Amino acid sequence: MGVTPHAAHPALDPHAVRARVQARTGPFDADFAARFSEHLPTLHGLFQRIYGEREDWQDALDEVLVLAAESWQQRPAPLKALDAARAEDPDWFTSARMLGGVCYVDRYAGTLRGMHEHIGYFQELGLTYLHLMPLFAAPEGNNDGGYAVSSYRQVDPRLGTMEDLAELAAALREAGISLVVDFIFNHTSDEHEWARKAVAGDPEHEDFYLIFEDRAMPDAYERTTREIFPDDHRGSFVQLEDDRWIWSTFYHFQWDLNYANPAVFRAMAGEMLFLAAQGVEVLRMDAVAFIWKRLGTACESLPEAHLLLQAFNAVLRIAAPSLLFKSEAIVHPDEVIEYISPGECQISYNPLQMALTWEALATRDARLLNQALERRHALPAGTAWVNYVRSHDDIGWTFADEDAAELGIDGYAHRRFLNDFYVGRTVGSFARGAAFQENPRTGDARVAGTTASLAGIEKGDAGGEDRVVLAHAIALSTGGIPLIYLGDEVAQMNDYGYRNRPAEAEDSRWVGRPHRPAEAYAVREDERTVAGRVHQRLRRLLAVRRDAPQLAGNDLVPFHVPHRCVIGFQRPGEVTSILVLANVGDEGVHVDPVTLSGLDPQARELIADVEVDLREGAAIPAHGVLWLEVRPRG
Ligand code: GLC
Repeated sequence: MGVTPHAAHPALDPHAVRARVQARTGPFDADFAARFSEHLPTLHGLFQRIYGEREDWQDALDEVLVLAAESWQQRPAPLKALDAARAEDPDWFTSARMLGGVCYVDRYAGTLRGMHEHIGYFQELGLTYLHLMPLFAAPEGNNDGGYAVSSYRQVDPRLGTMEDLAELAAALREAGISLVVDFIFNHTSDEHEWARKAVAGDPEHEDFYLIFEDRAMPDAYERTTREIFPDDHRGSFVQLEDDRWIWSTFYHFQWDLNYANPAVFRAMAGEMLFLAAQGVEVLRMDAVAFIWKRLGTACESLPEAHLLLQAFNAVLRIAAPSLLFKSEAIVHPDEVIEYISPGECQISYNPLQMALTWEALATRDARLLNQALERRHALPAGTAWVNYVRSHDDIGWTFADEDAAELGIDGYAHRRFLNDFYVGRTVGSFARGAAFQENPRTGDARVAGTTASLAGIEKGDAGGEDRVVLAHAIALSTGGIPLIYLGDEVAQMNDYGYRNRPAEAEDSRWVGRPHRPAEAYAVREDERTVAGRVHQRLRRLLAVRRDAPQLAGNDLVPFHVPHRCVIGFQRPGEVTSILVLANVGDEGVHVDPVTLSGLDPQARELIADVEVDLREGAAIPAHGVLWLEVRPRG
């Protein structure tokens, strides 16, 4: 249209870019060339938006493209075969057979090699996705459970070697299980080579972090940032030995990377592609909300954070196309959803559903969860939620205050109630959780614990086992990829031993990260035991789900029941739907026939595998769940 591009922003000349890259890498093969042409405009556009103010932005882009081309040249043949297979079946991760598990390598199996002996069990459970918690070289002592990485190319020597990881990835793939590892890309540990060079005054690496001579800028930023680990340090900065200040959102030994510097992007793209080459199939993108900072803002979920993720994603599409990104954004639901799209993170934790499941169990009131299922469950095509009951982290009460207000609930007071309830301070509470990062200045806190302990089993509450099953039944029936914290499926309890382990004592999240409960696993078939009963009931849910295509995908239709304590929704299928009804109350509920009168009277309850006549209504026991296969009334 006759618009002359600005000199610094010339239009993309793909041939010229390709020629420059090939001059350094040699010719492209046909597959790579096709993907290069397809995704170059996207990556170019993103780089221009992120780094276009810099004179060297196109050189920086060239560097990333060279890296991508070299990485593809070295990509192992089995992974290229996987790339081809996934290209034929791009929605593979939305099938009803998807099931995730998560564990710490040392706590579950000792070492990476030790993981092999559990693959049979993972198959028995039906896992297709295994998230191994951070397993990279990290500082001795407290290293935030491995989330302070000293080298992305070295496995923590106590766990094994990078070769062991690649071997395990291959063995898992053989067993139909995709390996998921963390990409901890917001920060490195203070022992990372880049960090050491930065403190030593090497200007190239000083620019990898956000370092300030005095308090002027830190003070200015901290006017609007949130304290994430207030038990560790106030504000967002810590002081270096030479008195300078460095950005450190989490622990003082985790230093935020400076993504305004394109060399950081390139370096981290290199680490990402290195992990891709080991056979990792999903990267859990850690702490996505924090990767870009701007003065005067909360420095969370800024537009550039999305552009950076999209740029990393575009690099993958070119160089390791079968990989997926999973977003870890434990923030306001309006922000969580922003990270999820085929061009950014294809899958995401669903922290709202997780937190509101616990909220409903505590309050015996399903309204907030039903409201979230109604208005915050939808996703773009080609993406999926990872629905979980709890993770290795604390439960943050991330519901929107606006949503709560509509139901007459005051968000602040409600969070306080939930924290008190789950740490067992409320009279009559069934829960035994631990408080995490209580901040007396803001009243904020979060809660940690295993599912069994939070749900009442540890306390001996009569509803404990039912609640464990109910919480999993929600995660297993709302679509996407359900994710089990391994050990919870045999009702493992809190581990208070962390208080005596110096590296863990200050971080109560360790209460919820026990070692593999070998005795519980040994009795998992024995229904005279708690572990056996919980396990057999969960296995039943897993078996039903595997054969229920209605439970795949993300379509969900709310189903209103005139009882506050009932969670209700339908998962539509081609001929029949599954109506999920779960009762968080302490009394049985009888759903009357009128409420069910839009449905054909002949239904089947899939968990117990019994015929139900809906003209008689539906009885849901206290803390009970029904998965009713129903048809609309003919
Ligand atoms: C994520 C991890 C958490 C860690 C933090 C900092 O939130 O899940 O365990 O402390 O990132 O890396």
